[in-house]
Amino acid sequence: MTAAAPSAPRRPARALRTPQRYQLNKHALAVIAGGHPWVFRDQLSSAATALADGQWLALYDGANQIVGHGIYQAEGAVAIRIVARGPARPDAASLGAVIDAALARREPLAAETDAIRALHGESDGVPGVVVDVFGDVVVVQTYVPGARALGRWAAARVARALGKPTIVEKPPRRGRGAGERVRLLRGAALPDVVAFREGPLRLAASPVAGQKSGTFLDLRGLRRELAGRDLAGARVLDLFSYTGGLGRACVAGGAREVLHVDASEDALAFGAAHHADAGAHRWQRADIFEWLPTLDRGDKFEVVIVDPPSMTSSMDQVPRVLAAYDKLYRAAKGHVTDGGLLVACCCTSRIVRGAFRHTVGTALGKGFALERELTPEVDHPVGFPQADYLKVLVFRSRRPPPGA
Ligand SMILES: C[S@@+](CC[C@H](N)C(=O)[O-])C[C@H]1O[C@@H](n2cnc3c(N)ncnc32)[C@H](O)[C@@H]1O
Repeated sequence: MTAAAPSAPRRPARALRTPQRYQLNKHALAVIAGGHPWVFRDQLSSAATALADGQWLALYDGANQIVGHGIYQAEGAVAIRIVARGPARPDAASLGAVIDAALARREPLAAETDAIRALHGESDGVPGVVVDVFGDVVVVQTYVPGARALGRWAAARVARALGKPTIVEKPPRRGRGAGERVRLLRGAALPDVVAFREGPLRLAASPVAGQKSGTFLDLRGLRRELAGRDLAGARVLDLFSYTGGLGRACVAGGAREVLHVDASEDALAFGAAHHADAGAHRWQRADIFEWLPTLDRGDKFEVVIVDPPSMTSSMDQVPRVLAAYDKLYRAAKGHVTDGGLLVACCCTSRIVRGAFRHTVGTALGKGFALERELTPEVDHPVGFPQADYLKVLVFRSRRPPPGA
């Protein structure tokens, strides 16, 4: 395919020229004053129901002063995402400075990798917008109605700053355009596969067909952790493996064999096609909640990785998901060798850190000790409590390994 698709806009958002006036009540004003980027629906007065999904707003206080600008979302718990505080209307100069600052914070990563999350939504001051970079390719996706033009503009700004020739837009996750095809915004052709380096790893992703922007960049810290451990001769069970990046990291640490298990045939096929290295990889398609209890009890692994999908779209689902985790970890722990590792991941902010630690710790019981808890990568900043979505815990079996 050649580049005929829409080019990146010159302005961050046409809607910014004519934001709708909206007066905040004292609860919402407290949000602005407190620095949180979200106004929740239950903090708004009923007048908000007249606003359109994706509408850009100039936010006023009771004294008729502009206190900020934001984007309205008609559904869900979050009603307004704050784009900027204070009276000045955000423009190319102010938003450009926000983007440049985000890129500057990521500069230390360049020595390790050419794949980064350049913009991480609200936590980087660009609400609703995620921009990832893989090698020469910039991938943008928005998750808030009304943020699409901002996302395209931000992607173009990132591409220019980093000298990247190709920009790909994944369809918005919500609102107008959701369900559209992946578009090429700039460059010669839509890249099916992009290669990138990460420490000792040579990895690949598909921005067009892959989940997220092509892969899970947020797991870099865990890949670094696993690749840096002495896993000489280890057998690894990589549950919810996607394309197998974590298993590959284990091979870089010396593992001899990895069994990747995932429900997605496409993800496993991509991993098998693009992840060639010295280790022996097996690829098993299965629903893990059904498959794991059927795994031979004697099948043991020095490393068991558990990285399920978020499984939650609302808070009322949390108890059900914690119950599912409990079952999952009780089943997984039986497959860890004495002295082996169990890695537990959680990728939803609806399950808070303490609850995750408690649930997994309780399921694993006294036979396991928490050895390490990873912190977020610099390109996945946690700007406010609800942005703390990714938790990674490394447990070790307390039983002495054979021969110890
Ligand atoms: C958070 S991602 C895993 C990312 C992966 N660990 C990596 O290193 O890239 C969750 C994965 O779970 C898979 N999945 C979702 N439900 C599943 C199920 N019931 N059984 C097996 N895999 C499932 C998805 O296909 C997705 O690849």
